[in-house]
Amino acid sequence: MSIMKNFLNVILILCVCLNWCFTEGAEEKESGKVDSYTFQVSSLFPSSSSSCTPSSKASNKKSSLPVVHMHGACSHLSSNKDARLDHDEILRRDQARVKSIHSKLSKNNADGVSMTKSTELPAKDGTTIGSANYIVTIGIGTPKHDVSLTFDTGSGLTWTQCQPCLESCYSQQEPIFNPSTSSSYQNVSCSSPMCGNNSSCNSGTNCRYGIRYADGSVTIGVLAKEKFTLTNSDVLDNIYFGCGENNTGLFNGAAGILGLGRGKRSLPTQTATIYNNIFSYCLPSSASNTGHLTFGSDGISGSAKFTPFTSFPIPSLYGITIVGISVGDKKLEITPTTFSTYGAIIDSGTVITRLPTKVYAELRSVFKEKMSSYKATSGNGYFDTCYDFTGLDTITIPKIAFFFAGGTVVDLPGIGILYPLTRSQVCLAFAGDNEHIPAIFGNVQQKTMEIVYDVAGGRVGFAPNGCS
Ligand SMILES: *[C@@H]1O[C@H](CO)[C@@H](O)[C@H](O)[C@H]1NC(C)=O
Ligand SMILES: *[C@@H]1O[C@H](CO)[C@@H](O)[C@H](O)[C@H]1NC(C)=O
Ligand SMILES: *[C@@H]1O[C@H](CO)[C@@H](O)[C@H](O)[C@H]1NC(C)=O
Ligand SMILES: *[C@@H]1O[C@H](CO)[C@@H](O)[C@H](O)[C@H]1NC(C)=O
Repeated sequence: MSIMKNFLNVILILCVCLNWCFTEGAEEKESGKVDSYTFQVSSLFPSSSSSCTPSSKASNKKSSLPVVHMHGACSHLSSNKDARLDHDEILRRDQARVKSIHSKLSKNNADGVSMTKSTELPAKDGTTIGSANYIVTIGIGTPKHDVSLTFDTGSGLTWTQCQPCLESCYSQQEPIFNPSTSSSYQNVSCSSPMCGNNSSCNSGTNCRYGIRYADGSVTIGVLAKEKFTLTNSDVLDNIYFGCGENNTGLFNGAAGILGLGRGKRSLPTQTATIYNNIFSYCLPSSASNTGHLTFGSDGISGSAKFTPFTSFPIPSLYGITIVGISVGDKKLEITPTTFSTYGAIIDSGTVITRLPTKVYAELRSVFKEKMSSYKATSGNGYFDTCYDFTGLDTITIPKIAFFFAGGTVVDLPGIGILYPLTRSQVCLAFAGDNEHIPAIFGNVQQKTMEIVYDVAGGRVGFAPNGCS
């Protein structure tokens, strides 16, 4: 009896540690497929303790860096620890990012980076950085100088603020990188192929770059080459990056952006001969857990299921093909053309998954039906399907699965289905704002999965339990 009790205690502690407690669904099917998740309401909210639980997967892999939530116990940007962004602000910025992706669809500047001789920028080219939730810390220069950068699969160039901040630097938590103190820093000339083909940049002068984000944030500076230290054993020479002399905007105190997008200046492309153009990550379940960003194929989960990348009108973004969605045991009525007209992308920087209006409406209606025993409550302008879980210990929600091209079915983790505003307002974490939009598979839905960007192989993979 006491052995059993101890066993249950261990299970309970494990669940609390994992911050997420699943039991197999009540509506277990004959096939053995599970159509619902049951878990504790408290597991939806960050733990109240100020301790950080590191990802065990990260430390077992080669070429792996911790990914942490910008605000919370695991972020070493310490004065930011309690400066949690409020949900309205996160969702407002998220909407701005999605809008900027839409408006970029009408232009076609390859990776949002302009190469220019001038210190002024012509247009709003970059995607809005959004709520910039996840950061990684890398070393730049010799001796190495640590900077924490926002992790972004939608950005084509890595940049950081550089002293002496000739024009302007926004305030960042860590000291600003100073190229004059690094023995490995090199300017890049206009004649470099990395500088693009801009006739207004005269050979012999330094190549300049600029990114103007759709929300008005700006970084302008020189294109440079440096030694990047990703881990103790991953020290890379001559990585091209933007050394920003004139930077303004909403970067949450991070030192810049880590560009994981497509395009020749992104970090995965530049390191393709070393890491084979493969990287993977796991976004942590909460601000008190860490995830990882891993370069190369070492340690990729054998259970990863892949779907091909498809081309997308904005070539720096990663296009995918969604062919279906199921909610519980019900498959939504999605025709092959539902998504094909406007396409879909997977994006680390968009928070909430966006779907065409009709698809969202059907998802919502099936979800509501299966949640009819819970008390519905008002939305907040971003969400229209919310529940009051006050007084409940556990809840059972329908499982949601995404069907991708190539026969790949991905069950979203339970934490990727609900967005907890407060205990009395927990919402379905999807939105549909327009019929004529590309779908965006966002970062709430990606949480705790291992997402494998096999760029060389032209495919993206998904595996469960990627962080812990
Ligand atoms: C080339 O430089 C000009 C002037 O600096 C700038 O307006 C233009 O956007 C640049 N073009 C590209 C493709 O970077
Ligand atoms: C710095 O950027 C701001 C915003 O784009 C711009 O108005 C200003 O002219 C820039 N200053 C210099 C010296 O480039
Ligand atoms: C890089 O160029 C800047 C001028 O744009 C110059 O001040 C600096 O000394 C150069 N650095 C190196 C290492 O060549
Ligand atoms: C660069 O521009 C020149 C002249 O505008 C053109 O002839 C050449 O093909 C371009 N090269 C590339 C790689 O785009």
